[in-house]
Amino acid sequence: MTGAGAVVETAPAKLNLTLRVVGRRADGYHELESLVAFADCGDRLSAHPSGELTLEVTGPFAAALHDAGAGNLVLRAARLLAQAAGVGRGAVLTLDKRLPVAAGLGGGSADAAATLRLLQRLWSISLPEPGLQALAAELGADVPVCLLGRPALMRGVGERLEPLPALPPTWIVLANPGVALGTPEVFRARSGPFSAAAPLWATPPRTAAELAGCLRRSANDLEPAARALRPQIDVVLSALAREAGCLLARMSGSGASCFGLFATPEEAEAAVRRLKAAQPAWWVQATPLLTGA
Ligand code: C5P
Repeated sequence: MTGAGAVVETAPAKLNLTLRVVGRRADGYHELESLVAFADCGDRLSAHPSGELTLEVTGPFAAALHDAGAGNLVLRAARLLAQAAGVGRGAVLTLDKRLPVAAGLGGGSADAAATLRLLQRLWSISLPEPGLQALAAELGADVPVCLLGRPALMRGVGERLEPLPALPPTWIVLANPGVALGTPEVFRARSGPFSAAAPLWATPPRTAAELAGCLRRSANDLEPAARALRPQIDVVLSALAREAGCLLARMSGSGASCFGLFATPEEAEAAVRRLKAAQPAWWVQATPLLTGA
């Protein structure tokens, strides 16, 4: 809902271009090293002033969101911010859910980060960056990187961020087979030794092909476990890899969404047309990578 006094934020889809699981903490959380970037598509959040705090969820994936109530990350982020900043006001929030839910695209985390940005504007407050990042980390492991919103190397359980120089112009095809997959389930199913953290490049890649070459030296360590839990992921990855111009096909986060990397919008859009024709039940989308330039 938009109108007088309304503010709007997008919540871009998060992509783990690489995801190495490098260890496990005593509390069960996993230590990661992940190259994270964002795609130019996502949920959309709007707010207008109100005394109360309310949330309405609309959009193609609204029905898939099981918790649109008090436990929803948007409302939790709003309450946490209000408390930290000593704000007594509320907001009428509308979340247009355009990304699939429990899909490895960080939808909920991106929504929480967008809430922190949006309500700072609506309430005319500006928390210092470290304080805001601490609130983000309290909301979930992926929320800090979503708040940063640019290509970054993510370490620790997600709270240690190293912003990266801009990535080269690249097109992304996102594909989800329409099966939800919970993150804790995938981490639980992961087995085998931990990966060693390793630098991806000495000099930053200048083209999409060079970026794909660097990414190929790494992997998403959650892919084997996710593929065993949801064999549909195999079908998505091989369908993407078969498309003309696909430089790399990989799963994002804990799945089941996968992405293909392309050098041109024409190749990415042609791939989307073919994939949609072959698999009408899949969610498939072509979008530029947000390079951070
Ligand atoms: O922090 P968030 O709620 O997004 O994490 C969801 C679940 O994913 C955690 O409960 C944990 O099981 C798993 N996780 C993990 N290591 C991370 C991030 C998430 O084990 N670095």
